[in-house]
Formats: sequence, structure tokens, C-alpha cells
Amino acid sequence: MSTNRTFTMIKPDAVKNGHIGAILEKITAAGFKIVAMKYTQLSLRDAQEFYGVHSERPFFGELVEFMTSGTIVAAILEKENAVEDFRALIGATNPADAAEGTIRKMFATSIGENAVHGSDSDENAAIEGSFHFSGREIY
Ligand code: CMP
Repeated sequence: MSTNRTFTMIKPDAVKNGHIGAILEKITAAGFKIVAMKYTQLSLRDAQEFYGVHSERPFFGELVEFMTSGTIVAAILEKENAVEDFRALIGATNPADAAEGTIRKMFATSIGENAVHGSDSDENAAIEGSFHFSGREIY
């Protein structure tokens, strides 16, 4: 059953390039309610754990280095069909393949530095949301 929630991060590239406001505007304009949000930075250990599923991939080192390179915005978003709708809003992992008008098409620079994260399933949305937020930080 869908939880109607997904988890997102505005990644260090988009934060450094000054796109936090524009990305949050796109997210809320698309009907997502922000139920938890924080401005933070991942430690090496945080990034290795969060992306543990990718630890055998050739890009893992690059991914961890990038995700710890600066501040991020982490948030839990609520909307009917949240996981699927949010993935449509952000577009393909590689911005070169992302549809016009998607967040990655507008703000990402490469497959590694792709501006935003979106959970790929309800199960991962719950795991990723709990990684960043305690119950009393979710409203
Ligand atoms: P995301 O879906 O948020 O989480 C996994 C990340 O790994 C993905 O975004 C990309 O930023 C990154 N990634 C996936 N494939 C590659 C790749 N071939 N090279 C570098 N980074 C990648």
C-alpha cells in the first residue's frame, strides 16, 4: 500500500548553485506538502550508509565524495502517489535524458551531480526518511 510519502535531498551542486528556492517552488507547485525539512551536511559515514546499496558500483567513491562535499536540504514530501509522481517531476537520473521542464533538466549538470534525489519505492522512502528525521520532526 502506498504511504503517500517520499524522501528527497536537494544535493550539494544545486545548493551551491543557488537553486534551493526554485526547486522548493517547483515541488510545492506540483502539489507536494513538505512534512519534514532540514538544512544539513552528510558525514562520510552518513553517505556510505545512506548509499550502502550502491557500495559495489564503480561510481560509489565519486558519489560519496560529492554528497559530502557541501550542504544539502533533506525533506519528506506528502502527496497521493508521492514516489511515482515525484520521480516524474525530477526526471531521469541522467539530466541528458530528463524530459523538458523536469527539475533535473532545469538544474542538474551531470549524472553524478544531478541536483535532487527521489526515493525509488515506498519502502525506501520510509527507510530514507527515518535516516534523516525522527518521528517528532515530521509534521
Ligand atoms: P540518486 O538516484 O539520487 O542516487 C544514486 C545516485 O548515484 C544517483 O542519484 C546518481 O547521482 C548517482 N549515479 C548513478 N549512476 C551514476 C554514474 N554512472 N556515475 C556517477 N554517479 C551515478
